Amino acid sequence: MLCVLGLAALGIAILNEKSFGVTAEGKVLLKTLHSYVGYVFAANLVWRLVWAFLGGYYARWKNVLPVGRGSGTALRAYVREFISGNPPTYVGHNPLARLMVTFLLLLLFTQAVTGLVLAGTDLYQPPFGSAIAEWVTGGDADKLKRLQPGSKDHVDLAAYDDMRAFRKPIVTTHLYAFYVLMVSIFIHIVSVVVTELREKNGLVSAMITGEKVFSETPVDLQATPSEKRSET
Ligand code: HEM
Repeated sequence: MLCVLGLAALGIAILNEKSFGVTAEGKVLLKTLHSYVGYVFAANLVWRLVWAFLGGYYARWKNVLPVGRGSGTALRAYVREFISGNPPTYVGHNPLARLMVTFLLLLLFTQAVTGLVLAGTDLYQPPFGSAIAEWVTGGDADKLKRLQPGSKDHVDLAAYDDMRAFRKPIVTTHLYAFYVLMVSIFIHIVSVVVTELREKNGLVSAMITGEKVFSETPVDLQATPSEKRSET
């Protein structure tokens, strides 16, 4: 969460560099800071994806993704009862939250992949930086040694233009995924607050303590209680 906020703030600074009067070196510095935070973010994301295979019962893919037998019926029932003001309670993500979390994970994954490519095209940083540096210098060892991010001084101009054409749809995807992510995060926060207020289940504090409060037996504990209790 902190990484995403930091990335969004630095991203907004990159987007508005002209209005902020940022110099060419300042722009490279902003992108470099953004990409360093991006590496921490990408490592966290990979860990979360791996944790969905190794983690506790409610962190696993089958309890996060909106898939599996009965998921459509559960979603319709949840929406119906949510609208009527008495939604069923869940220990893990409720069916609507599964949709939201999956969408957020897809957006974050898109940002991580496109961001890692941009770290290569804009800064010649890993994991793709050396291949891209080789591309824009045409493999010339001398140019390669002098190559600087944010400068066209030691590039093969035709190869550099090809690289920029390759980069264009990637930076566009990174930018539009950023806009969609900001709107989704806002909807996500509003949904969490509404769920907390309606269900009075301590959802927000459960993000730190892992403890939710229930006044009735949750739906996903009811289904196969012995299996679920033993795995948490
Ligand atoms: C939630 C994650 C992220 C968000 C919200 C985000 C947001 C942004 C935004 C708003 C921009 C400006 C786009 C533009 O100038 O058109 C940007 C640019 C950039 N991002 Fe990210 N980013 C994220 C993840 C990453 C990651 C993981 C990396 C790499 C490790 C990365 C590397 C870059 C680079 C190199 C640029 C400069 C591209 C340019 O010239 O605009 N980003 N990012």
